[in-house]
Amino acid sequence: MNDLIRTLVEAYGPSGSEDRVRDLIRPMVEPFVDETIVDAMGNLIAIKRASGKATSPLKVMIAAHMDEIGVMVSHITEKGFLRFTNIGGVFPHTLSGGRVRFADGTVGVIGSDALEDMGSIHPLNKYFIDVGATSRENCPVRVGDAAHFDRSFEARGRHLTAKSMDDRIGCAIAIEALRQLPDVTDHDLYFVFSVQEEVGTRGAEVAANRILPDISIALDVTRTGDVPESRPMDVRLGGGPAIKVRDSGMIAHPGLVRLMRRRAEEAGITYQLEVLEHGTTDARSMQLAGPGSAAGCISIPCRYIHTPSETVDVEDVTGCVDLLVAMLSKGIEL
Ligand code: CO
Ligand code: ZN
Repeated sequence: MNDLIRTLVEAYGPSGSEDRVRDLIRPMVEPFVDETIVDAMGNLIAIKRASGKATSPLKVMIAAHMDEIGVMVSHITEKGFLRFTNIGGVFPHTLSGGRVRFADGTVGVIGSDALEDMGSIHPLNKYFIDVGATSRENCPVRVGDAAHFDRSFEARGRHLTAKSMDDRIGCAIAIEALRQLPDVTDHDLYFVFSVQEEVGTRGAEVAANRILPDISIALDVTRTGDVPESRPMDVRLGGGPAIKVRDSGMIAHPGLVRLMRRRAEEAGITYQLEVLEHGTTDARSMQLAGPGSAAGCISIPCRYIHTPSETVDVEDVTGCVDLLVAMLSKGIEL
């Protein structure tokens, strides 16, 4: 699975520019589904229709987002340096000395205005990107161009590190689950590779309003509490998939949480329970779309979220695949 993960995490896809990621995923999922659709916002919807004996199949939407955080050029100085704004949750303390890459391959180095006090952190508008230009005229980048953080994938034993585990690892889990699912399933499965999650779960909102699912499951990363002086959080790397109970945008459907726990126990999958105090996922949009749906989330424990070195455990990842397959290949009664 590492080759699949590497291909996905190294691709370019800040929110609003997901087309390259979609072009990678579409041919990977097409052999396993009945139909693929790309909607007006750019969501990829892969539909595997019920072919089992169930008389009234449920509509199950599974969402993993293709976009990643990044930056967008807002101003170019006379000397050719770029000021920028954030795409999604970009934290200033992760920036200095980092690199970004634009769609055309242009690489920039991130610098900042001088700090008066070395113990403080600049706000975002004191940082700039140096692409080697000497003037506005010879700058290869334009206002409005987007870049992602530039960092290669590393497999370090069980730990996998990359710039965009959030949420290409969710995409990889969805793809792997599609490969493993039996040909015949009892429910209509809508695998949605969504856009613009990092700017407010926007893609999943329109996809869910189109599909009107009965059951919704997001696949996304969650933070851990297992590093020095961490804010307390009862999720750790290597503890297995985290079944979300709530986050700051959603309370998961209790019946769906119970079913996830039961399916994990039946299949011998070690799991954790997740209460996340800050942040949410596409599950929020799916829960609230149309007449509402029973929503939950299988979370992948991840250290250093929204930095260029987001880190997951390979066994947690395979545990998430196993849990998703166990959920989708059996009956869903809440
Ligand atoms: Co995120
Ligand atoms: Zn995410």
